[in-house]
Amino acid sequence: MIRPADQNSIQEAAKLIRESELVAFPTETVYGLGANAFDEVAVQKIFAAKGRPAHNPLIVHIADFESIAGVATIPPASKIEQRLQLLRGFWPGPLSVVLPRTEQVAPSVCAGLATVAVRIPNHPVALALIKAAGVPIAAPSANPSNYISPTTAAHVEEGLRGKVRIILDGGSSEIGLESTIIDLCSDPVTLLRPGGISLEQLRSIFPDIKVREQHSLGPVLSPGLLKEHYSPRTPTILRGQREPQSYPSKVGLICFKQSQSLETNYKEVRVLSKSGRLEEVAAKLFACLRELDQAGLELIVVDTCKEIGLGRAIMDRLMRATAKFSG
Ligand code: TXA
Ligand code: MG
Repeated sequence: MIRPADQNSIQEAAKLIRESELVAFPTETVYGLGANAFDEVAVQKIFAAKGRPAHNPLIVHIADFESIAGVATIPPASKIEQRLQLLRGFWPGPLSVVLPRTEQVAPSVCAGLATVAVRIPNHPVALALIKAAGVPIAAPSANPSNYISPTTAAHVEEGLRGKVRIILDGGSSEIGLESTIIDLCSDPVTLLRPGGISLEQLRSIFPDIKVREQHSLGPVLSPGLLKEHYSPRTPTILRGQREPQSYPSKVGLICFKQSQSLETNYKEVRVLSKSGRLEEVAAKLFACLRELDQAGLELIVVDTCKEIGLGRAIMDRLMRATAKFSG
């Protein structure tokens, strides 16, 4: 089922997309589980395969800026059109934007909302697949609902074996965290999920951008952004926060940086980046959480970092991963 992402398998995967089937494919953020975004029957299969609640909308992937017009209604010279033009330089890349949807997008993609999230991924295989399919591809991360997002083809197979016809293998995802999501329909523009494009970068374009509080009251704008998400099964906590007085014997530690001190209390220790480079931490974090989740540990302790730049997205994912164990 895992296939090297060569021309033949991309063509075959594109044909499956046109035939209402599911295909998993690499992107620079995480692997996606794709279906034809215009095909309600196909999109329903995504929800079934992931066990994803119907109220959680999907991101639609397109191959170029011009294709936005097929999935979103943007009045010429409108505020949204101006905002889109300002963002052009971020695509292809790890940025998803929420826009008014067209009628053509299958209703369950948008989970009943009047908007659709769109992005142009920066991965040659994803782009080739979308072009070959000739339709926009709706794709959430290719993992069972609520588990850690996949950054390799093997991760996809682990979680969705038998539920997806082809997994295109494009190696490890370069960024390793899901895309940044911003809402271009709100005033001011709102950051819904931090990711590979940082808040600081977005502020240089939208100085008044608002950050949606994780626990804010009111209607759930982005239901997938609920607190508990991305959880390992093994109890997982942040280093230095609510660590137990007495440790169980099988504890794993994920460090962001190589340190001088010997970490003798731990059964397994992983260092994500020798120098603590956040790009490297992000790229390896999900794979490392998965690995330790399968290592028979009683507890996983994870480092923390400042919520600056990519650090904001890293801490967002870690807060979700640890939410149900730290309450
Ligand atoms: O990097 C990514 O974004 C990856 C790759 C595959 O592109 N995809 C991904 O999809 O992370 P998923 O389904 O795991 O997360 C999609 C998020 C959800 O939190 C959902 O609530 C939000 O996008 N979303 C989708 N449509 C929306 C809309 N119309 N308004 C607000 N949020 C939306
Ligand atoms: Mg996901």
